[in-house]
Amino acid sequence: MQLFLDTASIDEVRAAAKYGVISGVTTNPSLLAKEGGVSYKQRIIEIADVIDGPISAECVTRTADDLVAEARVLASWHPNVVVKIPIDEQGLEAIYRCTREGIRINTTLIFSPNQALLAALAGASFLSPFVGRIDDISGDGMELIQQCVQIVETHNLGARVLAASLRHPLHVAQAAMAGAHIATIPG
Ligand code: G3P
Repeated sequence: MQLFLDTASIDEVRAAAKYGVISGVTTNPSLLAKEGGVSYKQRIIEIADVIDGPISAECVTRTADDLVAEARVLASWHPNVVVKIPIDEQGLEAIYRCTREGIRINTTLIFSPNQALLAALAGASFLSPFVGRIDDISGDGMELIQQCVQIVETHNLGARVLAASLRHPLHVAQAAMAGAHIATIPG
């Protein structure tokens, strides 16, 4: 399992990078909003200068047409950008259209095995089940990680399961034991 950092803080990225255990970074607009007005593009480029791996940047639009247009802009910022698109009906269409253009997609806000299956079939490179938020509503977030890994590996779908919304160190160990390909660690 690889470790990514879930942050938009360049200080946190630099601090973690020195150990050599971080392979990528995931960001979102909420994380960026904590960064005091730096532009999303500038921060992504700064992060990409430190970590040579996938850097997720998230769309905020909601229709398929808007998501595709936004994804093109985000993907143009740096070759390592992976575009985060939430999995709903519009998002699924956008994922398919983007992947046909060669834009790599991290499907975010996955709450069920079928959402993961659909995103993988549409061509997403990364599937992000939200472990902590499922736990928040008395579900078993780690069970979803196991289910997604099983689906991807049984059917050789090529997508990688990225355990997201992790809240504590036990989640990280459990994700590794469940076969997650990546865990993204809050800063
Ligand atoms: O990786 C997704 C993450 O940023 C959301 O975490 O703790 O708000 O559910 P959380």
